Amino acid sequence: MTAAGIYNSAVAAWAIAAAWEIGALDELHRSRTLDAESFAASRGLDPAATVGMFRALASVGVVRRDGATVVTADAFDEVYRYKSFFHWLSRGSAELFRQMPSVLVSENRVGKFYRRDAAAIAYACREIDELCYAQTFWDAMGRLDFELGSVVDLGCGSGGRVLDVLARYPRARGIGIDIARPALDAARADSLAAGAADRVTFIEADVLDLDERPEFADVQLITCFMMGHDFWPRENCVTALRRFRKVFPSVQRLLIGDATRTAEVPDSELPVFTLGFELGHDLMGVFLPTIADWESVFEEAGWTLLRTNRIDLTVGEVVFELE
Ligand SMILES: C[S@@+](CC[C@H](N)C(=O)[O-])C[C@H]1O[C@@H](n2cnc3c(N)ncnc32)[C@H](O)[C@@H]1O
Repeated sequence: MTAAGIYNSAVAAWAIAAAWEIGALDELHRSRTLDAESFAASRGLDPAATVGMFRALASVGVVRRDGATVVTADAFDEVYRYKSFFHWLSRGSAELFRQMPSVLVSENRVGKFYRRDAAAIAYACREIDELCYAQTFWDAMGRLDFELGSVVDLGCGSGGRVLDVLARYPRARGIGIDIARPALDAARADSLAAGAADRVTFIEADVLDLDERPEFADVQLITCFMMGHDFWPRENCVTALRRFRKVFPSVQRLLIGDATRTAEVPDSELPVFTLGFELGHDLMGVFLPTIADWESVFEEAGWTLLRTNRIDLTVGEVVFELE
């Protein structure tokens, strides 16, 4: 690859995330073509900047451009499928990567030494969930052998999972817990829009430091997606998993879905997302357990592993079903 190709790809990664967020990728997905100037006018966007954004997409073969006329090109469908991974990188994690020189320095790695955009991460995660975990999650839900009355989602982000569960189980009540207020603000707004606000409570708390509460007493199902690696290292993970049984005394099932550290992939064969995800977690100093690491803690923490569902789309995704 040439320096120009590398440079243009870097610019295009920003443009992909932006084009998704402003609706341009969806429009192209529907119509396969659009006029950049009328698109800009209809959405209150600056015309020159909008054409420039499409030019960045054209430079890497996502679209082709003839003046302001934009049509999808060879890379479009794959990029459209993986748009959330670009968003995770360019919007949610931008500040972490921007600060790479200082984050690398050992003596700087204390306290809150990096920042990411929690609301943007939550936005991307809804789609990453749909792409990676949704099918396996609903299959596991189908195997619940009790009538679901109460569910808690740990690290709920913008609340999509708990709201989806409530939509499918109209008699159930839900709780979403997250440490990030911006994600919870989005979750509360979505619960109002979904007409589910009276059946769900969103709580700002650290799930690793939960105390018993009256509203936790009936919880039968715990779900936790794309944050389980935050329970680690091992000893902390055992403590956390044990504590969930105490804090949620009626719990019958725990579903943990997460990425895991995969075997080393040759540097020249890395698929989309793996590199950003693993480097990002190394920069943050977050340990990523392997599937074997996970499977070694459940029994010690008092949980029985019913099933390991390997998804393995790009970052060793897996869903553990525990009781
Ligand atoms: C990658 S997002 C996943 C969001 C959501 N679970 C989903 O499936 O889309 C991880 C979420 O976990 C939250 N989180 C991370 N550590 C946490 C902790 N110790 N306590 C509560 N929430 C936490 C983050 O704020 C973020 O919203």
